[in-house]
Amino acid sequence: MNTSISDRLNRIQPSPTSAITDRARQLRAMGQDVISLSQGEPDFETPEHIKAAAEQAIRDGHTRYTVVDGIPELKQAVCRKFKSENNLDYQPSEITVSSGCKQLLFNALMATLNRGDEVIIPAPYWVSYSAMVEIADGRPIIIPCAAEQQFKLTPDKLESAVTSATRWLILNSPSNPTGAVYTRTELLALAEVLLQHPEVLVITDDIYEHLIYGDVEFTTLAQVEPRLKERTLTCNGMSKAYCMTGWRIGFAGGPESLIRAMAKLQSQSSFHPASICQHAAVAGLNGGRDFLVPQLLAYHERRDTLVLELNRIDGITCPVPDGAFYVFPSCTGLFGRLAPNGQTLASDTDVVNYFLDTAGVALVPGRAFGFPGHFRVSYATDIDTLLSACERIQLACEKLIETN
Ligand SMILES: Cc1ncc(COP(=O)(O)O)c(C=O)c1O
Repeated sequence: MNTSISDRLNRIQPSPTSAITDRARQLRAMGQDVISLSQGEPDFETPEHIKAAAEQAIRDGHTRYTVVDGIPELKQAVCRKFKSENNLDYQPSEITVSSGCKQLLFNALMATLNRGDEVIIPAPYWVSYSAMVEIADGRPIIIPCAAEQQFKLTPDKLESAVTSATRWLILNSPSNPTGAVYTRTELLALAEVLLQHPEVLVITDDIYEHLIYGDVEFTTLAQVEPRLKERTLTCNGMSKAYCMTGWRIGFAGGPESLIRAMAKLQSQSSFHPASICQHAAVAGLNGGRDFLVPQLLAYHERRDTLVLELNRIDGITCPVPDGAFYVFPSCTGLFGRLAPNGQTLASDTDVVNYFLDTAGVALVPGRAFGFPGHFRVSYATDIDTLLSACERIQLACEKLIETN
C-alpha cells in the first residue's frame, strides 16, 4: 500500500509544542520527576453549572445531529455575548460555531485562500497560524515584533507588510505566547492603516479575552473601528475563560458571506460541534462569569510570582505581560555558557532542552512561535509547582560556566 503523504501535509512541520510534551512524557515514563510548564490549558475545572447543563442535554435527548454551525440557542447566546461584552451587533446569520477556535481559523483560511495569497502574522505567534496558512496554500508573512514594543505589531510594520497579494491579517490579543494586550489606541492606529487597504480581511483571535489582569482593558478591532467590522472575523471560544478545552466549542462573528462559506466547508468536514457541548456552551455564555473571579486572582498572583522569580535568575529577563497565562522571557543572556556535559548553549532550543534534561522542567522554545531567543512558560498551574520549577531552573543556571 502506498501511504506517502500529500505535498500539502509535507509543507508543515510537526508542532514543536507537542515534541516537547512528548519528550517530557518519555522522561516521566523513565521515572524522572518532570514539571511541565508547556501546557496551554487552564488547570481549573469546568464550572458545575456548565457540567449540569451537559448532563441535562443528554437526558433531554440532545444526542443527535444538529444544524451545521451552531444551534439557534447558541447563536443567540453568542449574539448576546458580543453585544453585552464587546458592544458588537451581530445577527445570528453572522455567527458561526465550530469545534474550538482552532477549527474556526482553519475554516476561515481554507474557505478564502488561493495559492500564493498572503497572510500577515505578527511574531511571536500562536504555533498553528502559519501551519494552517500553509495547509490552505497561502503564504505566511511573518513580521517580527520587538520585545521593546511588547511584541506588538506597529502601524509602520503593518504598512510595509501589505502587498497586492495580502488577504488576511491575524491579530491575537491577549497573545499566546507573550500575554501582550493591544490597547484601544494601538488598535486604532492599526485600523488607520487597514482603512487604506480595503481588500485586507482581519482575523482577531480573542480567545484569551477574559484573562486580563489589573486595570487593563480588553478591546477588539471591530469594536474600536466599526468601519472594519464588515471585513473582520471576531473569533472567540469557551476553552480558556470557561475552562472547557476538551469540550471543543469556538464561535465567531463576521460578514454573512464569509460565515456561509465557513459553514459550507464545515458541512463537508466535521459537520457540527458535539450537540451536548453546544448546550453546555449556552449555559456557560448565559450563566455569568462569577466563577472567574478567584481564577483571575490566582493567575494574577502566579504571574507576579513567576516574573519576580525568573528575573532573579542571572541570564533570564522576563517582562510583565498583561493577559493570558504565559510569560515569554528572553534567554539570550545564557547563550555562550557551558553546560556540565560540555555543550555550549547557543539557542533557545538548547536552553529549553538543558532545562528539561538538567532541571526536569518542560518549557517551549521561542522558535516554536517564530521568535527565537525566548521561551514560553505557562502559569496555568499552582503556585507551589511554579516556585519549585523556578528553583530548579535557578540551580540549573548556576551549574553553567561563563566562557567569556
Ligand atoms: C491563541 C490561540 N488561539 C486559539 C486556540 C485554540 O483554542 P480552542 O481550544 O478553542 O481550539 C489557542 C489554544 O491554545 C490559542 O492559544
